Amino acid sequence: MKKLIDRITEIVEQGFVDCGYERSLGKVTLSNRPDLCEYQCNGAMAGAKLYKKAPIMIANDVVGRLLGNEAFEEASAVNPGFINMKISGAFLADYLGQMDGDDRLGVCLEGKPETIVIDYGGPNVAKPLHVGHLRSAIIGESMKRLSRFLGHKVIGDVHLGDWGLQMGLIIEEVRERQPELPYFKEDFEGEYPKEAPFTIGELEEIYPAASLKSKSDEAFAKKAHDATFKLQNGNRGYLALWNHILNVSVSDLKRNYEKLNVTFDIWKKESDAQGYIPDMVERMKREGFAHESQGALVVDVAEETDAKEVPPCILLKSDGATLYSTTDLATLVEREKLFAPDRILYVVDKRQSLHFTQVFRCARKTGIVRPEVKLDFLGFGTMNGRDGKPFKTRDGGIMRLEYLIQEISGAVYEKIMENRSMEEADARETAKVIGLAALKYGDLSNQAAKDYVFDVDRFISFEGDTGPYILYTIVRIKSIQAKYEELADKVTGEGEILPAASESEKALQLMAGRVQDALLSAFYEQAPHKICQYVYELSNAFNRFYHETKIMAETDRKRQAAYIRLLKLVRRILETCIGLLGFEAPDRM
Ligand code: ARG
Repeated sequence: MKKLIDRITEIVEQGFVDCGYERSLGKVTLSNRPDLCEYQCNGAMAGAKLYKKAPIMIANDVVGRLLGNEAFEEASAVNPGFINMKISGAFLADYLGQMDGDDRLGVCLEGKPETIVIDYGGPNVAKPLHVGHLRSAIIGESMKRLSRFLGHKVIGDVHLGDWGLQMGLIIEEVRERQPELPYFKEDFEGEYPKEAPFTIGELEEIYPAASLKSKSDEAFAKKAHDATFKLQNGNRGYLALWNHILNVSVSDLKRNYEKLNVTFDIWKKESDAQGYIPDMVERMKREGFAHESQGALVVDVAEETDAKEVPPCILLKSDGATLYSTTDLATLVEREKLFAPDRILYVVDKRQSLHFTQVFRCARKTGIVRPEVKLDFLGFGTMNGRDGKPFKTRDGGIMRLEYLIQEISGAVYEKIMENRSMEEADARETAKVIGLAALKYGDLSNQAAKDYVFDVDRFISFEGDTGPYILYTIVRIKSIQAKYEELADKVTGEGEILPAASESEKALQLMAGRVQDALLSAFYEQAPHKICQYVYELSNAFNRFYHETKIMAETDRKRQAAYIRLLKLVRRILETCIGLLGFEAPDRM
């Protein structure tokens, strides 16, 4: 369906044409003075130069035409030449009726659907999934759902970090603890055990221990480097051990992401890209893109217009080792081969912005991606604690995602038990649903690039711009619907949305009519916070309407049925939007 504002623009444009003026002057915007009007058009101002006429005269001409149109309740020309408009209740109710009749709420599928790879999550194998990875998962998941809803073909890739020094560190630490394992016997030719020599709990303890040791013990650090090198060059025992690390770690990660309601379409890993490196590097040398600099092999990516220096993209270090950038370039080779995407969106900490500038430039310059492929970086800020520093646990460590979810659900649980009578088990389940919404909304409602403060008390508040407030609004609508269903003399059948009977109902209808605008700007600006903003405004409009309207006590049954119909639509819009944000509403709270 056309956006409401576009339909109004069409009518106003026609008004300009009918008066002998340029069509393009009829562009309509939302009013910046909602106290005076709903929509406005400033085209008469631009027309003044074109037609050497006072803008107010042009505005008056056009208003003359608009007044005859049933789409408007009011249209007036205001000095020096603005056109202010209020649309008619019937026109608006009809638009909402059409939205209501459509199972996509009137939101169009994109005319030119793209194949989009979204690179998000990005956890590192064997390192616990911590809050630093939380934002990527939450924002990426939302961009995935939104893009898919709009009709794009989306491939969500977790892009596991499984190929770095952390592997060598773990291998060496395991060797120190269990030197008798066959993975370390050079001449071992038999089959390696199917069972991993550690549990996830042990693995999580092994990595930090090894990492710490490598900082003070140089010999150990060197061994870990060597082990990484051997692994990357195909050492059979190390590969078998690495496989165990991977499997144990991945099942734990999947469990964690499931709790977050985050799912990936593919579980590709950094190691999958390694096979593409030799040919890629060879070609870059052959075609003259790569050159040696201080022993390393690099590609220059600086551009004249750079305000800050962009250093060359390093392909190989002087010892021949590959780097993060090499892997990301090779991953692009792989993605081109497997998916030939129109767009790749990276949802990664904004501190990696320079890295991606280098990688994107290098990929373009060397022709790894076709020129038309869009490479987008959605860099997000840091989640801070209330002290303004990166979020830590009470004992100062990085908090595990799992505990974070537990903490927030626990706080919600306390709250439910405090003020309401809900069975304990129900309260636990409900607290999980609300907790997740609080966490995700608390994150997504901020502009992604900004740092934000993780504040449990604020996030779980049932009032204000929070997830629970949105859920509370939905639950309220559900309960009105249920009460209505019990009425003996309700209008049977469906009823229809009627022209608004009050100012607050009209405001609610106008807001409901803007869902498509919100989703499209969230997509094009890669800004899920636009969806949050919208659901918050819609919830406010609903709650104002609710407080000013006697819905259950309404004696005009047709009017009452119209309210219920509108409420159902609002609920469907809210549920669709929070679904795109990656959470859902409980039945009660
Ligand atoms: N594993 C990386 C990290 O923890 C994030 C990966 C982001 N994606 C990418 N293609 N580089 O920082």
